[in-house]
Amino acid sequence: MSRYICIVSGKGGTGKTTSAISLAHVMSKHRKTLLVDANISTPNVNIHLGAPLLKKTLMSVLKDEASLKQAIYTHESGLRILPTISTVHDLKKLKYDRLREVLRDLEGEADIIIMDSGAGLSKEAITAIEACDEILIITNPELNAVLDAQKTVQVSQEIGKTIIGIVVNKAGRDKHELGINEIEKILDLPVIGVIPYDKNVRKSLRLKHPVTHTHPKTKASKSYEEIAGLLLGKKYFESINKKSRTLYNYVLEKLGFG
Ligand SMILES: Nc1ncnc2c1ncn2[C@@H]1O[C@H](COP(=O)(O)OP(=O)(O)OP(=O)(O)O)[C@@H](O)[C@H]1O
Ligand SMILES: [Mg+2]
Repeated sequence: MSRYICIVSGKGGTGKTTSAISLAHVMSKHRKTLLVDANISTPNVNIHLGAPLLKKTLMSVLKDEASLKQAIYTHESGLRILPTISTVHDLKKLKYDRLREVLRDLEGEADIIIMDSGAGLSKEAITAIEACDEILIITNPELNAVLDAQKTVQVSQEIGKTIIGIVVNKAGRDKHELGINEIEKILDLPVIGVIPYDKNVRKSLRLKHPVTHTHPKTKASKSYEEIAGLLLGKKYFESINKKSRTLYNYVLEKLGFG
């Protein structure tokens, strides 16, 4: 059975696509992994990975013009992706039930299916949440981003999804940002990872590769390794520090293994 993990936020630009790409890239070294671009109206997994022009994508599958297998590609970094390219015309005709169905048809295509989603609480963002079993919230250490994330948390809980926890991205930029404890208090969920603001993330975007591929030793990549370890389980967890071990138990419990 595939594990479906949806990467969501409230606010746009928090780092969902960056995190989805990096986590899927790290996980793909240990398990069969597939990254899906479920941000249908403003998709950019293919842009981040340097493939702006692709004939067959998730949109072709939705339009019955390709099979899922024909729309799955392997990036140079080893990461397998199901990208999306859409036109305004496509979006007008998009049927959300069909989208949910196609996303669920990926069952068995990988051990772990990571889904990048759109910002906010649009119908398509909710459809991606509905199609997944586990939710990972990406926020930034700013009040507006955390308050927007709070709405996504609420909607995910109302739909009955397991929220694994919060990842705070672009941390450590200035002394005015929210602390981890404050974020945990507002969202009433644990922060399971902190990704520092790291200029190498922007460099990797220019290089059209996951940062975990171009700069495996940089701080952001180390953090992604840690979070991927937490999500993957015991075997990949041995090197992680003590604080994360408590979190690891929490994550296991959330996933029903506690
Ligand atoms: N840890 C980081 N350090 C520095 N820059 C980052 C970091 N994470 C993401 N970025 C940069 O922030 C920008 C937005 O990131 P990204 O596209 O991943 O956000 P997003 O949440 O997917 O946005 P959208 O809501 O538009 O889909 C990109 O330029 C990316 O390179
Ligand atoms: Mg994005």
